[in-house]
Amino acid sequence: MTDFATWTRAAQTRIETALARALPAADLEPARLHAAMRYAALGGGKRVRPMLAYAAAEAVGPGNDLTVAAACAVELIHVYSLVHDDLPCMDDDDLRRGKPTCHVEYDEATALLVGDALQSSAFEVLAEAGASAEMVVLLARAAGSRGMCGGQAVDIASTGRTLDLTELEFMHIHKTGALIRAAVLLGALSCGALSGDRRAALEHYAKCVGLAFQVMDDVLDAEADTATLGKTAGKDKAQGKATYLTLMGVAEARDYARGLVDDALAAILPFGDAARRLAEIARFIVERQY
Ligand code: IPE
Ligand code: IPE
Ligand code: MG
Ligand code: MG
Ligand code: MG
Repeated sequence: MTDFATWTRAAQTRIETALARALPAADLEPARLHAAMRYAALGGGKRVRPMLAYAAAEAVGPGNDLTVAAACAVELIHVYSLVHDDLPCMDDDDLRRGKPTCHVEYDEATALLVGDALQSSAFEVLAEAGASAEMVVLLARAAGSRGMCGGQAVDIASTGRTLDLTELEFMHIHKTGALIRAAVLLGALSCGALSGDRRAALEHYAKCVGLAFQVMDDVLDAEADTATLGKTAGKDKAQGKATYLTLMGVAEARDYARGLVDDALAAILPFGDAARRLAEIARFIVERQY
């Protein structure tokens, strides 16, 4: 059995290849748009969502070509969300994955279109690989106003305000948790239908991991430095963002995320060793430095 670092590298290579193949060539007209799409999507990021899709497929396995398409589709939606999140009308960031954000490297109109086109590509990749209607609907809901976009709307509306724990949890579960849940479920569904018990276990795992991921994103924004993060540190406080650190200290937030991960690990116990990668990713999420 390969160690987690080796498994991670293989998963990252697999997703990089799939994305490079799925996206139009950089010299295909309109070349500026296609080059910008590739600029945003390729050569960076932790690829946690594709890793979750592969790991969920391994848990119910075996993975197949549809698993790769599911991983690719979720990452394309994620990259689109990052490109739009960084726009001046949203978080106004100029650094992402260690390089200038898409609208800084290109321009705002191009970045807007990059997000739009990446979202379309995601559904194209998924449907073309033979995904069921259930899978397509699942990704659509996760990305839309009842998922990621809804969470982003709450984020924007909450800037400069203090949210209570319930409101904050709602925001995080939507803006980040929804896509993480989609990664896990699509990965598993790419291997076939899921029994009620298995689906419920994976749903619980994904909910805990998704929330823990954004709690740690809040912690790292405050604790890590820009070079390590590959995005500007300390932005949440500077912009008056509602985060877990507005309600609790760093140590308490880390404990909270660890508790969520313990819950996630308990949920996947019935899968035994087949869920080993899911467990390793959950632990990575609270131990990560970037
Ligand atoms: C950052 O996501 C934005 C959030 C939803 C928290 P990641 O931390 O997964 O960013 P990349 O993909 O590794 O760049
Ligand atoms: C982003 O949350 C959530 C998305 C849907 C992109 P953040 O605004 O905290 O993400 P970063 O810190 O810019 O990566
Ligand atoms: Mg944001
Ligand atoms: Mg942001
Ligand atoms: Mg953040």
